[in-house]
Amino acid sequence: MELNEEKLNELLGQVVTEMGAAANGPLILLGDKLGLFKCLSESGPMDSTELAAKTNTAERYVREWLSAQAASGYITYDANTKSFSMTPEQAAVFGDNESPVFMTGAYYAITSVYKDTPKIEKAFQTGDGVAWGDHDTCLFCGTEKFFSPSYEANLISTWIPSLTGVEEKLKSGAKVADIGCGHAASTIIMARAFPNSTFIGFDYHDKSIEQAKARAAEAGVNNISFQVATAKEFPGTEYDLVTFFDCLHDMGDPVGACAHVKDVLKPDGTCMIVEPFANDTLEGNLNPVGRAFYAFSTTICTPCSLNQEVGMALGAQAGEKRLQDVATSGGFTHFRKATETPFNLILEARA
Ligand SMILES: C[S@@+](CC[C@H](N)C(=O)[O-])C[C@H]1O[C@@H](n2cnc3c(N)ncnc32)[C@H](O)[C@@H]1O
Repeated sequence: MELNEEKLNELLGQVVTEMGAAANGPLILLGDKLGLFKCLSESGPMDSTELAAKTNTAERYVREWLSAQAASGYITYDANTKSFSMTPEQAAVFGDNESPVFMTGAYYAITSVYKDTPKIEKAFQTGDGVAWGDHDTCLFCGTEKFFSPSYEANLISTWIPSLTGVEEKLKSGAKVADIGCGHAASTIIMARAFPNSTFIGFDYHDKSIEQAKARAAEAGVNNISFQVATAKEFPGTEYDLVTFFDCLHDMGDPVGACAHVKDVLKPDGTCMIVEPFANDTLEGNLNPVGRAFYAFSTTICTPCSLNQEVGMALGAQAGEKRLQDVATSGGFTHFRKATETPFNLILEARA
């Protein structure tokens, strides 16, 4: 078979670009941990000597780091003044951890994937799963850092109001369970916004629940508690709202989880399911967002589900139709997409 030179060059061009992105991944972490992005975005333009002095780092390393970021298009270089700076857009993505588009968290999760590759390799050969808690700890803080900005930007302003009658209940005082809460990014945001309501975060990973308790104490919210429990067995009844944030597809038995939620909700209660955005077909997900989620799904979500009973392994690109099948198989009769963002589907299930 003859090679088409033009197509080959096009593919190689893509691969070189992405090889650079992969090699630059650890530099993004260093930029975050050492405060290089933050300092440059707040106090630039500056050269490597100034940035090194302000961040208490070694100039030679900082100079090389700055060159790599400028070649990536993540910071800006002015050849006339020989100084570096960040545009408002570059600052929003890398320099400001309060920005809704702060993307650095993903790189912490990616670090765990590289470290855990031997476990995933074995799982490919055996078909066994890998539990959430068996991953490198970078995954847990990476997940929190990656999801928090979007929850901060959307959860209270858009997602809760998109659900039928839920915002009013939360304002006047409701009982809420947040399932698979991880480090409690979503639980704390809700508890802060609705002081008359009580929130209980559940997760089957004990270390995440420890961190969730610490985060809630740091945030100073006291209408919140946490407990280690699985989605199928968490305690309590008469909930007004039960939420799943980016975790239903990680569970071995999402149908069983939905059935348990239906049992413990009040008759007029709501189950809110936030899932990674996906279309219903593979071909509909062959795009940059689908690519990132399929990759995380292969190494994190699918092994997590396969490690549990049933092992349904929905994957992170299940899509609305399959998620509706899960919710209705669990006994919910009303299901609708309440809203969406480029990264998330917000789904509502009711009895
Ligand atoms: C991708 S993380 C999402 C964490 C959190 N909801 C957030 O948005 O930051 C998935 C979470 O689901 C939890 N999980 C997986 N299977 C579970 C199960 N069967 N019961 C309870 N939690 C589970 C994991 O421990 C993990 O914390």
